[in-house]
Amino acid sequence: MIKILISLILFLMVVFLPVGYNVYTGKTAYIPVLQPPEQRGECVENVMFMRKKHSLLLEKWRDAYVRDGIKRYVSINGIYKISLTGTCLECHSNKTQFCDRCHDYLGVKPRCWSCHNIPEKVAKK
Ligand code: HEC
Ligand code: HEC
Ligand code: HEC
Repeated sequence: MIKILISLILFLMVVFLPVGYNVYTGKTAYIPVLQPPEQRGECVENVMFMRKKHSLLLEKWRDAYVRDGIKRYVSINGIYKISLTGTCLECHSNKTQFCDRCHDYLGVKPRCWSCHNIPEKVAKK
């Protein structure tokens, strides 16, 4: 029992090390103001993970969907439909005040929207 507890504490320390590092170096202070989703519910993975790795997650989603026909993604936060527009933009419907604000700020230009149609209710905002 004590062994399990010790390994758990060690594991958590390792997992949260990058968070502490970012706070310590003040990196988190440079993130632009983002409009949080109007809808309730938690993001697909925790916010820190999403902030750093959402592009890898989306890549994984695309490969799982297109190559293996997997339609659902299970995380600690719940079960999500694998869909760029149907899931991500369902919650983050304020794309311009969220995704774009961040990408513009950082000079990132995802080439997804030439094929993936931005839903009408999102495009209007
Ligand atoms: C050249 C066209 C094209 C581009 C560019 C493109 N996709 Fe796709 N994507 C597709 C097609 C076609 C499917 C399969 C759709 C289906 O079968 O319903 C798909 C499916 C997906 C899926 C799973 C299903 C869904 O509806 O979301 C994800 C996730 C995805 N793409 C992510 C991305 C991301 C992220 C980018 C940008 C980095 C991107 N795609 C760029 C054509 C494209
Ligand atoms: C069920 C609703 C929901 C879904 C679905 C969802 N998100 Fe989130 N997302 C949230 C919430 C809530 C937050 C936290 C916002 C906050 O605290 O500012 C968040 C945070 C994020 C962040 C971090 C923002 C920051 O402050 O750095 C990114 C990036 C992100 N989401 C991208 C995505 C992507 C990409 C998808 C699809 C793969 C997605 N989200 C799907 C609700 C959702
Ligand atoms: C906290 C800032 C931030 C937010 C919010 C954010 N992104 Fe990103 N995004 C980035 C950064 C930085 C990159 C480039 C580095 C990387 O690929 O991880 C990126 C890259 C991407 C890529 C890969 C681009 C490529 O050409 O390969 C996709 C796709 C993407 N984001 C989609 C989204 C979507 C969809 C949302 C909104 C639901 C979103 N992002 C919100 C910061 C953000």
